[in-house]
Amino acid sequence: MEPTSKIKHVAIIMDGNGRWAQGRCRPRVWGHVRGSSVVSEIVEEADDLGLEALTLYAFSTENWSRPQLEVTTLFGLLKKFLLKERQRILKNKICFKVIGDISSLPLATKNLIEKLELETKDFKGLKLSFAFGYGGRSEIVDAVNQIISKGDVEHITEDDLRMNLYRTDVNDVDLLIRTGGDQRVSNFLLWQIAYAELFFTRTKWPEFTKEEFRGIIYQVAGRERRFGNIDSVESFEVSKVLAQENLMKINQPLQAH
Ligand code: FPP
Repeated sequence: MEPTSKIKHVAIIMDGNGRWAQGRCRPRVWGHVRGSSVVSEIVEEADDLGLEALTLYAFSTENWSRPQLEVTTLFGLLKKFLLKERQRILKNKICFKVIGDISSLPLATKNLIEKLELETKDFKGLKLSFAFGYGGRSEIVDAVNQIISKGDVEHITEDDLRMNLYRTDVNDVDLLIRTGGDQRVSNFLLWQIAYAELFFTRTKWPEFTKEEFRGIIYQVAGRERRFGNIDSVESFEVSKVLAQENLMKINQPLQAH
């Protein structure tokens, strides 16, 4: 079975740029520069693998508090990516979208984003999202406010909320990868990762490779996902035996010491 029949939407927290650069006695922004070429490689690999969606955490709401140089470098790298990858995105029919609050980006970059989103909106290839100025809680609050603004609401459903998230044409995340060694979800896609497999690698983002990416997808595709259910008679029988054993233990009189 192709791994991408189980893993269709991958989200990545691209962490470790700063530490990678500092470990080489370079300024932190050097790590972001190197990290941005890894972005291009991973997008290409996701496309080659036939994934349906790839969502990359490029700039969080918390990142606004970083030094000005780092913030402007990240803005610059986003612009450079848009210019450099535009042709490839169009050629490969990638459907591109930025999710988050980009109101503070320079006008030229906002225009580039808007243009590319418009040009690619009907493409049926990889759905590529850059989370920029993004926060998972803000996304949920924005969705609720959007529902309220549409009229009298007394009761909302999960579907109502889902249909008002920043991107409604992608399914939930199947696999969330975080590079850089930390094991946190850091306010990323909080709604969409409800049943995602989580994979944490120590590799810092600038050293993340296509091979490691592909390896993780194959490894995780081998894990069983039950979505809170049990899906085999075998696991049911095993649970029954364990439950009976536990019951016997509970019913045993306490041993005198
Ligand atoms: C976390 O590393 C990474 C970010 C805050 C930004 C991620 C950005 C890129 C990979 C490059 C941007 C590219 C494009 C195309 C927009 P960190 O600095 O927090 O690393 P640390 O944990 O080592 O400090």
